[in-house]
Amino acid sequence: MAPLGALFVAGCSNNQAPPEGPAGGGPGGPRMGGGPGGGPGGGLVDAKATAPDIFQMKCAGCHGDKGQGRMGPNLTKKAGAPDDALYKVIHDGAGKMPAFGSQMTEAQVKELVTYVKGLGKA
Ligand code: HEC
Repeated sequence: MAPLGALFVAGCSNNQAPPEGPAGGGPGGPRMGGGPGGGPGGGLVDAKATAPDIFQMKCAGCHGDKGQGRMGPNLTKKAGAPDDALYKVIHDGAGKMPAFGSQMTEAQVKELVTYVKGLGKA
């Protein structure tokens, strides 16, 4: 009985939305059409934020919380993609994908490259 209850509680809290959603937007998706430079949620990423945090804050709105894809493409099959190509897309943007090079450090962009490549494996 107790284990069941514990499981339920754990499952429940897992389903809670993270406190800081992208742009406070929620399922509607981050606002689009701001043009390059703005980026969803605007602001700079905390220099101490790690890739999983940044992904949830800045990327999940378009790519899904697990990178499974929403309005942006599925990112779970990128393990074989060249690092520099992923880096360039994240840093400079591509099509509707905003550029993030001005919102975070280079090291954080690199962390995201590694994180994206690991998405499908988890
Ligand atoms: C506003 C929505 C949006 C946000 C936010 C966003 N992306 Fe994207 N992303 C896209 C779209 C749309 C594409 C497809 C771009 C194209 O037209 O080539 C894309 C493409 C990509 C690609 C290339 C995928 C491929 O098939 O090669 C990567 C990698 C990527 N995004 C990572 C990220 C990361 C990491 C973040 C967070 C820092 C992020 N994206 C945030 C919309 C978004």
